[in-house]
Amino acid sequence: MSIPLVLEVNTDKPLQLQIFDQIRNMIFDGRLKGGDSLPASRMLSEQIGVSRNTTLLAYERLLAEGYIETKPSVGTFVSRCLPDETMQLTQPILQKDKKAKSNLPPVRFLGPVQRVFNPNRADIDHDFWIGRPDPDSFPLHQWRRLIAQQLLRLGTRLTEYGDPAGYYPLRQAIADHLGPSRGIITSPENIIIVGGSQEGLNLIARLLQGPKTPVILEQPCYQGAAYVFESYNALIHPIPVDRRGMLIDQLPNVKNAICYVTPSHQYPTGVTLSLNRRLHLLEWAARTGSCIIEDDYDSDFRYQGAPLTALKGLDGQDNVIYLGTFSKSIGAGIRIGYMIVPSGLIKSACRLKGLMNNGQPILEQAALVDFMEKGGYSRHLRVIRRRYEQRRDSLVEALKRNFGDVDLMGLRGGMHLTWRLPDSFPSPKTLEAIALRQRVGLYSLKSAAAVDFGATAFSKNLIALGYSSLNEKDIHEAIDGVAFGLEQYNLENRSVN
Ligand SMILES: Cc1ncc(COP(=O)(O)O)c(C=O)c1O
Repeated sequence: MSIPLVLEVNTDKPLQLQIFDQIRNMIFDGRLKGGDSLPASRMLSEQIGVSRNTTLLAYERLLAEGYIETKPSVGTFVSRCLPDETMQLTQPILQKDKKAKSNLPPVRFLGPVQRVFNPNRADIDHDFWIGRPDPDSFPLHQWRRLIAQQLLRLGTRLTEYGDPAGYYPLRQAIADHLGPSRGIITSPENIIIVGGSQEGLNLIARLLQGPKTPVILEQPCYQGAAYVFESYNALIHPIPVDRRGMLIDQLPNVKNAICYVTPSHQYPTGVTLSLNRRLHLLEWAARTGSCIIEDDYDSDFRYQGAPLTALKGLDGQDNVIYLGTFSKSIGAGIRIGYMIVPSGLIKSACRLKGLMNNGQPILEQAALVDFMEKGGYSRHLRVIRRRYEQRRDSLVEALKRNFGDVDLMGLRGGMHLTWRLPDSFPSPKTLEAIALRQRVGLYSLKSAAAVDFGATAFSKNLIALGYSSLNEKDIHEAIDGVAFGLEQYNLENRSVN
């Protein structure tokens, strides 16, 4: 038998590839069918005038990819079961019947959407969205170089599974960093690398939260944490916050609770948990056999005074799980966070991390080690700290210039502050709408990824303003715009009344 192959000579395409493609196309379009016999390689070579080696190579590839099969002493045939055929749709796609009832299992997760970015961004020129790093701050050139170097260096680590707890050198670099920066003495063995603190929260809930476990949250609280615990049907005890953080004397007298706190810069109010309350909280945890989750999300940014030692650094009884993230200092897109886990929980936590996803991608972890060890990370932190401090100062200045004696909180660190509106002002929600008309995004707590379990006198009337992603000129322009919008609003409402 012969098959109609036409080879081109004036082309860069190798002859063996032309033979392979043409035979494969004949199989696809049905000119060759499953079970059809193909000419022997020697005969085909003579027919089309190429070396036998060329046809052999083409046949070998067709064989390796499953398009043909050989029967010893009989011949070569088109496969009856083609590889690509199994991947191609043989039936036309069915139109979905809109009235048809789903017979899928009922969805068990009914949680709300977590607002990690602003859905109205297109309508906004200047956005005080909370916790958003300066888009120009990403260390692009260094990161590109480090990733390229690691791609060459990592070798088989790129094709193999690693320790689900994360790349050991990164855990070591984090342990080295946390001593001087947060007063935490820990070892890499207690550190797990996670896909952002959000994964850490999920891991903790799955590890520790039973049907009757009391879960204590700050009121108001970070949405990302509240929603995770709620999704496991938590028995939530909200504890109000004042200017010195969570009201520790209101902690319930319960056993084996989980208590989530943001001590260095409370989310969303920005207040710092006082040292006295830190010590009482630790004492309560030790007494009640409870676990504290310390979410230290933006503590890389501290502008006034020495930072208070992290709760984990004061945790003599090993009751604290510490959550850290590179989402603020480098960027949320790299999805690298970490948790420091008490020795009594670390084995189970590592097993669970393996079960969840077998660990984080190695490439970014390895690049981050180099960034941290060669001094790039500290330099980067110094630059953005200074930049954010200037932005914070500009925001304070712009608010004072436009609104006089403003009541602000959360100035000592972080990437946002809160502003308590005077009684003469419209509500935070209304001010948010007024600002939006001026194409400025500023946020009532509810819109600022916070959950308030019934606003307290303290959390009422607060506006949150993230300043890290806006330059100084934009900050002044934006606040001037809000002041103008508010004036217009007051005029309109006065004339209505
Ligand atoms: C209180 C709090 N915790 C943690 C995070 C960071 O989460 P992740 O590390 O998952 O990006 C944020 C981000 O905005 C936050 O506000």
